[in-house]
Amino acid sequence: MYFFVEKKRVVVILLISVVAVWILTALTPPLTNPPSTGEFDGPDSVQRIFKHACYDCHSNNTKLEWYHQVAPLSWKISSDVLEARRHLNFSHWDSLSAADQRSKVWYAVNMIEQGKMPRRDYTLLHPSAKLSERELKVLKNYIVTITNVSSAQPKKQMLKPVVVHTSKESPNGIQYFSDYLTWKVIVATNRFDNGTMRIIYGNDIAVKAIQEGNINPWPNGAVIVKVVWDEGEQDEDGNIYPGDFNNVQFMIRDDERFKRTEGWGFARFNTSQLIPYGKDVSFEVDCMNCHRLASANGFVFDIPTKMQ
Ligand code: HEC
Ligand code: HEC
Repeated sequence: MYFFVEKKRVVVILLISVVAVWILTALTPPLTNPPSTGEFDGPDSVQRIFKHACYDCHSNNTKLEWYHQVAPLSWKISSDVLEARRHLNFSHWDSLSAADQRSKVWYAVNMIEQGKMPRRDYTLLHPSAKLSERELKVLKNYIVTITNVSSAQPKKQMLKPVVVHTSKESPNGIQYFSDYLTWKVIVATNRFDNGTMRIIYGNDIAVKAIQEGNINPWPNGAVIVKVVWDEGEQDEDGNIYPGDFNNVQFMIRDDERFKRTEGWGFARFNTSQLIPYGKDVSFEVDCMNCHRLASANGFVFDIPTKMQ
């Protein structure tokens, strides 16, 4: 008899608790996913990592299980996510200047490296969100492509061409130079078509010309450099890593000096030895003939649609 009463009491208390939680949950405004204005637009391999490990908190793409939406846990999660979004929101990436984007990525990778992000309370429930060494390497490689490499510590530089001082000269008289390492990256492809990865840099004049749409013809002094790496290893997740330095190619705008080739001077240096390409001056005709396909863009293929 006594037990029976106890049991009843327990059931009543349980029922009351369930109803209380239900009411609290119903009264709590749910965490919403506002529309994204412009997602983080780095290479696929980098996007994949951020989406997997960070997006639940740092984007407008928070994925919640039903139990995350039960009060009072939902309160804690809502406030964490809202705070995380205030600090860093990959879904409003376009609202940041290019410089802010770079520094956010830099900061983010540092936080990951120090083990501060993703947060420990999160990785307890989502162990796979913890970044592997290889994923960290993908992010660090990405940083090299978007930041000023020459001012970074050379030892940390992972995408290494780079014979900085050399007097190598192309058959048409264009000398190798390494200034591009401090220039802005116009396009970084993480597509490994042809088994290579390419990064294209522009000097200030080239970047300004792109911003102003002033590319028909390009102004004298514009220089565009394309660096090509071989495809390296691939891991279980499908991330591909840059392998050896393959070649570097220059396009230098001077409509007097390079009249023969529509005002663009071409040069290419192969392997990390930077061996000049072309037996004689005629090599540049081949470069030009193919680049004619891009005549609508002043003979340059990779014009980013958006550039800050
Ligand atoms: C469980 C939610 C959660 C996850 C997952 C998470 N973060 Fe955070 N993050 C936060 C919160 C909350 C803050 C703000 C308070 C703080 O600094 O702890 C924050 C702050 C940051 C900041 C500081 C931003 C600034 O400008 O102050 C960076 C950078 C950051 N996170 C990067 C990341 C990265 C990169 C990932 C994925 C690898 C990640 N976070 C995953 C919750 C999260
Ligand atoms: C078979 C066609 C072809 C030939 C030959 C060719 N290119 Fe290109 N080049 C391309 C294409 C396509 C792109 C853009 C795609 C990419 O990023 O690889 C490109 C991109 C470039 C870029 C980056 C700027 C841009 O146009 O996007 C430079 C610099 C460049 N090439 C230099 C050279 C030089 C120097 C030579 C000769 C040694 C050369 N190219 C020969 C097709 C060619």
